[in-house]
Amino acid sequence: MGAWRIGSRTVHPIGIGTWGMGGDRLPDDEIYADYRSDDREIEAIRAAVALGQNHIDTAQLYGAGHTEEIVGEAIAGLEREELFIATKVWRSHSLRHAVPRAAEESLRKLRIDAIDLLYVHAPWEAIPMEEYIAGLDDAVDAGLARAIAVSNFSADQLLDAIRLSRHPIAANQVRYSLLHHGQVDARMRQVCAEHGVTIVAYRPVERRLLADQTTSPVVLDAAAEVGCTPAQLAIAWVINRPGVVAIPKASSREHLEENIAAMRVQIPEGVRAKLDALGRGAGAE
Ligand SMILES: NC(=O)c1ccc[n+]([C@@H]2O[C@H](COP(=O)([O-])OP(=O)(O)OC[C@H]3O[C@@H](n4cnc5c(N)ncnc54)[C@H](OP(=O)(O)O)[C@@H]3O)[C@@H](O)[C@H]2O)c1
Repeated sequence: MGAWRIGSRTVHPIGIGTWGMGGDRLPDDEIYADYRSDDREIEAIRAAVALGQNHIDTAQLYGAGHTEEIVGEAIAGLEREELFIATKVWRSHSLRHAVPRAAEESLRKLRIDAIDLLYVHAPWEAIPMEEYIAGLDDAVDAGLARAIAVSNFSADQLLDAIRLSRHPIAANQVRYSLLHHGQVDARMRQVCAEHGVTIVAYRPVERRLLADQTTSPVVLDAAAEVGCTPAQLAIAWVINRPGVVAIPKASSREHLEENIAAMRVQIPEGVRAKLDALGRGAGAE
């Protein structure tokens, strides 16, 4: 297995997504907390870590703050230095002085001393980039975060962030799957490679459209040819790329085990070419 890195840390290529654990989004877009499935979600995170996954991806936004509490409970008592904990600052706390305050609140919920990777959740139009990038830098200087990152940034926005930041930008977390290439085109890959920025691919199984709800004949045929499930094919397609890790969310042991086995899936070049063509219509590539 190759080494997947974010900044100076080696991470498992398949991280643990947490959107939907401990809350969801109402039709009017308001995010709410939901405590009813806490035991199941905590168990899922612990099972994922027991299976060898070490990169947990969460956010201030998720579950209106409750998801970070679930992660905190799940990792309590585990070997801290084996884990790589990433969280994201939301727009509400993206002014320079507010970012470290948000990081402190995340640390309290996560019950840890420092966040391994602190993201800004998106490039907010209403707030100058200087504000939140300086805030991320300040969080590192204050010892609240070990590394910083951006999410949903275009290649140009990423270059702006790299220019503005005093600390390296370790990752750009973007939607990236074989059905949706999004902002990940050749230029994004080049910028990331030149500046040591890992691409963290969110929604890699397209919320089940690339798992048990797959209808694409190309995906189904490719999975049959490779000898894996559609979810494994989708995750392998992402992590077989240099400098890319995936963060699928899974709440059952069955899904966790299925997804983690994607590490052993190798996609032959001919199959890969057919899969690459699928996402070209949906995104930059
Ligand atoms: N930065 C951002 O703006 C942003 C945006 C979206 C997401 N994210 C992050 O990326 C993570 C992943 O994205 P996502 O949660 O949106 O989408 P996803 O990982 O593509 O899909 C998650 C859904 O797929 C199901 N699933 C996973 N593995 C499966 C399998 N092998 N077979 C069948 N179903 C399977 C899960 O079901 P179960 O839960 O029932 O197992 C869940 O309903 C999030 O959790 C979050 O941490 C970040």
